[in-house]
Amino acid sequence: MNRKYRKTVIAGNWKMNQLASGVKPFIEELKEHMPKTRSCDVVLCTPAVMIPAMVKAGKDCRVAAGGEDVSKFEKGAYTGEISADMLADVGAKYCIVGHSERREYHHESDSLVNEKAKALLAKGIAPIICVGESLEQREKNLTMEYIAYQVCAALSGIDGTQVRRCIIAYEPIWAIGTGKTATAEQAEEVCCEIRAVIRRLYGARSARAVSILYGGSMNAKNAAELLAQPDIDGGLIGGASLKPADFATIVAATAQG
Ligand code: PGA
Repeated sequence: MNRKYRKTVIAGNWKMNQLASGVKPFIEELKEHMPKTRSCDVVLCTPAVMIPAMVKAGKDCRVAAGGEDVSKFEKGAYTGEISADMLADVGAKYCIVGHSERREYHHESDSLVNEKAKALLAKGIAPIICVGESLEQREKNLTMEYIAYQVCAALSGIDGTQVRRCIIAYEPIWAIGTGKTATAEQAEEVCCEIRAVIRRLYGARSARAVSILYGGSMNAKNAAELLAQPDIDGGLIGGASLKPADFATIVAATAQG
């Protein structure tokens, strides 16, 4: 973390777990565990139908609401889609794009991820752009090359002012939901490279202003070590964000340093 230049962000990703009726009890329990003083922004990204409940309950606990996906289209005849405008209208401040589960199960391409990020920026929502290599790519030593490509593709056409509102989440696919976390060293190496890519594209000032998160089996036990790395500015947390006490412990871990 480097709080002098950029925000620390702890973001939960509830995926397709929980129900809207579970939001209020979750936040009430979370409140009991949350540290009194906060050294980071906290967000819970949920399916769109839960965002209004999160906005309402989250106010009490300084938890912002975020979406998990957005349409690339602004409006119109796109049955089933949810636009950035709709997310903003119900109070979402953040939205995940390009999660590996969407890339895999919904065949989302890098250019689609880029269009979605731009759609969010146009409506004042901070995109949390996910990038990450597969185990096969890591074993073939292709990690850095692939991550650099993904970051460039996701940021295509985004200008130097807008990029500072983007959050990049490095999520090695092999670490998501597997209990296999990247070591702090592995995670830092890639997050540092992501910042170097942003520096090449936008210059040093923008690069040091962008928050880069780590995601992939981050939990109450390993968070402090990961967050102690200079280029890791927070976490994108799946499984552990469904447990109020664990999520609060991760938030508390940002108080170090
Ligand atoms: P995990 O998920 O923390 O359960 O590994 C992270 C994510 O998919 O964002």
